[in-house]
Amino acid sequence: MLQFFTLGYMEEYLPIGAAVGVLCGAYTFFRTKGLIRALGKNPLSAKSCLLRSFLAVLNIPFCLNMWAPSCVLAFYIMLSGIIADILAFVFHKLLKKSGSRFYLAGGLAAVVFALLLVHGLYGMNRIVKTEYRVASKNVKNPYKIVFISDTHYGTIQNKALLTKAVDDINALSPDIVVLGGDIVDERTSKEDMQGVFADLGRLRPKFGTYFIYGNHDTQPYTVDLPNGERTFSDIELENAVTDNGIVILKENYAVVGGEMLLVGRGDYGWNVGSRASTEELILGAPEGMMRVMLDHQPLDTEKNAELGFELQLSGHTHGGQIFPYSVMHSLMGILNYGEYRFGDMTHITSSGFTGWGWPVRNAFYCEYVVVQVSPAE
Ligand SMILES: [Fe+2]
Repeated sequence: MLQFFTLGYMEEYLPIGAAVGVLCGAYTFFRTKGLIRALGKNPLSAKSCLLRSFLAVLNIPFCLNMWAPSCVLAFYIMLSGIIADILAFVFHKLLKKSGSRFYLAGGLAAVVFALLLVHGLYGMNRIVKTEYRVASKNVKNPYKIVFISDTHYGTIQNKALLTKAVDDINALSPDIVVLGGDIVDERTSKEDMQGVFADLGRLRPKFGTYFIYGNHDTQPYTVDLPNGERTFSDIELENAVTDNGIVILKENYAVVGGEMLLVGRGDYGWNVGSRASTEELILGAPEGMMRVMLDHQPLDTEKNAELGFELQLSGHTHGGQIFPYSVMHSLMGILNYGEYRFGDMTHITSSGFTGWGWPVRNAFYCEYVVVQVSPAE
């Protein structure tokens, strides 16, 4: 229950949470005026104003942590109310009705909220395959790369979806599979951590499955840990990955097919301050190969393009997962979702296999990515 308010807490986002709280509070203060009037009381009396102020201020603790489910709930109640008010206004105009729209708006708000919830639950449990094409002057053969990131296994999504996706991906006969980080997180049990890598170990790509760490895999966010304690150790995680035939790229690279260099960068969040630069990672690496950067977060793209990379694969953003985070990411300059070009490099940010924190999604789909690499003409 505590995590309803504390999940994902980060001090630096307090001002944004406070701003959302003020917005939701102002809406509550304004909208409860109609509620009190509909109940036959004077909304402007001292007692009513005190009650309305209390309900308005109640939004602040709900919203202060902008990543918590409590903030999402408060925001979506406000959003449903605004949409319902607009619809009620339109209906009244069309039907040329006069008088209070309060009860119509209230009923519509409940319907809108329910529809948004159902749509969000559906979005969290539908997986799509998203395809991209990349041509490289440094390969002589085609390669099919499958990229799966951000499964956050055992937290908010039906686990059977991953098992089905593994079967679907095997049917595609991939050449390479990349697990792009955040496969597990703070709320994943040890049993689920071992289970997900056993399931992913069933993948049969021609040149192997490679894993890079995300910011959550080693459970560094203590505020989200059950009882404040990790559910598995670093070595237990490492063993679960490698025992299932999956190769860990932890600030090193692998050569695939004699013509592709897969570089696994240490995650920015997991490894802040000590992660090796791209220059350091490719020092002494063979030349004349297609360079592919695997970095959990979509960072350093321009630099990587300058260093001759032709493809970068990232996840982490979840495409924002729900409105308005999806819009905020783009406004913040984050490479939120999809394909971007930097010189000769294609960068792809996946929206991830699932979401994080809240069990709903309305921004982009849950997905795995298939990149068809072909020799340039
Ligand atoms: Fe992440």
